[in-house]
Amino acid sequence: MNDVTPFVIKSNPVILGIESSCDETSASVCSGGQILSNIIATQSIHEQYGGVVPELASRAHMQNILPVVDTALQQAKVDKIELDAIAYTQAPGLIGALLVGNSFAKSLALGLNIPLIEVHHMQAHVIANLIDDPKPAFPFLCLTVSGGHTQIVLAKSAIDFTILGETLDDAAGEAFDKSAKILGLPYPGGPLIDRYAKEGKPVFPFAQPQIADLNFSFSGIKTSILYFIQKQIKTDPDFITNNLHDLCASIQFALVETLMKKLAKAIRQTDIRQVCLAGGVSANSGLRQSFLEAGKTQGFDTFIPAFEYCTDNAAMIALTGHYKYLNGSFAALSSSPSARASWT
Ligand code: KG4
Ligand code: ZN
Repeated sequence: MNDVTPFVIKSNPVILGIESSCDETSASVCSGGQILSNIIATQSIHEQYGGVVPELASRAHMQNILPVVDTALQQAKVDKIELDAIAYTQAPGLIGALLVGNSFAKSLALGLNIPLIEVHHMQAHVIANLIDDPKPAFPFLCLTVSGGHTQIVLAKSAIDFTILGETLDDAAGEAFDKSAKILGLPYPGGPLIDRYAKEGKPVFPFAQPQIADLNFSFSGIKTSILYFIQKQIKTDPDFITNNLHDLCASIQFALVETLMKKLAKAIRQTDIRQVCLAGGVSANSGLRQSFLEAGKTQGFDTFIPAFEYCTDNAAMIALTGHYKYLNGSFAALSSSPSARASWT
């Protein structure tokens, strides 16, 4: 941090956010805490491989980043010389993918002589709840469920967080995607399980692991689904096709129940009644319904970001950059990305 130039901090900064941690190249302009644009280029090339191929992701980021940033600036009607800082996803993620955003952000910050801000992707998912009204009041709880992470976070302020619990193995989105793969569905299978579950009933009782504290484990659910299906296929080779909707409803039920039980426990333990969802899996209709109903029956206020701010996006990076800017949390131009880094 020793090569950080002392910058004058403005009260309503214009921040460019850049996200490139996985398979979405995204750029967003945030002015005084208001999101003016949020451009997302999703990389469809990975679908044929059944998962994200890191090398292909890096190459797609390299192709996408310049047009995505240009479009974000144009849509926001902001010239790059008006920018006050560049915020980029520094961790966690695929290292080659992160490096593209890192190099681009550093070069632009250096060229414009403005501060560079490192953003932790998981902090940004929580901050996504502060983009639109109504916003949760601090302190609030957030259940962050994505393809790479599952966490229950206590947000004491926009820059002060405690992780109360997290997954010990697979993430919730990973569990959706791997279960979908067992059913022969294409990647990412989470949205397809959601769609088919609407037509089915949760008649198959898949294991819900009992893990201590506020932590999660999803690898057991996946194994339970695999063994169950292998057994059924022996007597009915078309078991999956014949029961696809009920299988999806049962998988979704097991995963949503596991998430909601831990969230209810966190609410009881902290007695905090401002509760948010975040991350790509918060797009799941079963989870949303269960979460909203729990809010009514258990007496807590519920917040879910708009869909475009649930999955990976740069608006959440830009807004996190906004809060870090106001706090003077600037990075050195020697800033490097990290596949894993702590943020609390
Ligand atoms: O937050 P996100 O966009 O990327 C990561 O940071 O990981 O989350 C992507 C994950 C994938 O696992 C995807 O299958 C899951 O979110 N997902 C869903 C739904 N929409 C996205 N899972 C279940 N139901 C959905 N409707
Ligand atoms: Zn994410």
